[in-house]
Amino acid sequence: MTQTWVNLPTDTPLADGEVHLWRASLAQTPDALRRLHSTLAPDEAAKAARFHFPRDRDHFIAARGLLRRLLGRYLAQPPDSLRFAYGAYGKPSLGGAAAAAQDLRFNLSHSHELALYAFARGRELGVDLEHMRPDFAGEDIAERFFSAREVSMLRTLPAEARTPAFFNCWTRKEAYIKARGEGLSHPLDAFDVSLIPGEPAALLGTRGDPRELTRWSLHSLDVGEAYAAAVVVQGTDYTLRLWQL
Ligand SMILES: CC(C)(COP(=O)(O)OP(=O)(O)OC[C@H]1O[C@@H](n2cnc3c(N)ncnc32)[C@H](O)[C@@H]1OP(=O)(O)O)[C@@H](O)C(=O)NCCC(=O)NCCS
Repeated sequence: MTQTWVNLPTDTPLADGEVHLWRASLAQTPDALRRLHSTLAPDEAAKAARFHFPRDRDHFIAARGLLRRLLGRYLAQPPDSLRFAYGAYGKPSLGGAAAAAQDLRFNLSHSHELALYAFARGRELGVDLEHMRPDFAGEDIAERFFSAREVSMLRTLPAEARTPAFFNCWTRKEAYIKARGEGLSHPLDAFDVSLIPGEPAALLGTRGDPRELTRWSLHSLDVGEAYAAAVVVQGTDYTLRLWQL
């Protein structure tokens, strides 16, 4: 699939049957960061203040502030008026009656200098974005986090294909558990994803409910050099639209 991220549209209504993905830079000017910070809820500002490194703090403020800005556009509400609820494993969702009426679902991921957001109505989704560090993509890490089937697929590949394959696997697994909202409480060896570069993103197997295989669809996202990203969406009857903030 050819993927083009369209620059900052002025109007982005989210139709039923659409999934919107937004790519955004986390490198914000001090002024922009101040404005984004001013939209955060007290608990978010408190979380920001607890980061040890200023860069991590600023990236959290940028990622949350931009999330509020995007949600505010979809809901036609001021970003600072939005309230988040959190699932048992920390997945954020929108609280409040107005948001519930629109059944707007979202998920986000941030890594290095980029954030990635996904939005849809009435269907769950999860996204993951990773800055690809070849030194991280070792066999020991794969054996610890991936299923036996995934590790053996990885081993069939020539050395130069292993880093992209590793991050295909990582982002698809992470996007799947984020779509389910269970975080790492869902065993990572209880399901298999495709990972070979050039092959379609797919959930290949599950040791749990077999209906999972048709419940979700997966896509790899081309967000930029040195990044890997994936989105997992409930169902198949939708169109993906890609925006650049
Ligand atoms: C928290 C977790 C959901 C994602 O963590 P992550 O990959 O480090 O971070 P990402 O940037 O992709 O996602 C963070 C965002 O996901 C959202 N999130 C948090 N908990 C979530 C959950 N249970 N489900 C879905 N989304 C969640 C939040 O919006 C969070 O953003 P925030 O900084 O604004 O709070 C969880 O899966 C985790 O701890 N992963 C650790 C990484 C790992 O070992 N992965 C193995 C992959 S094979």
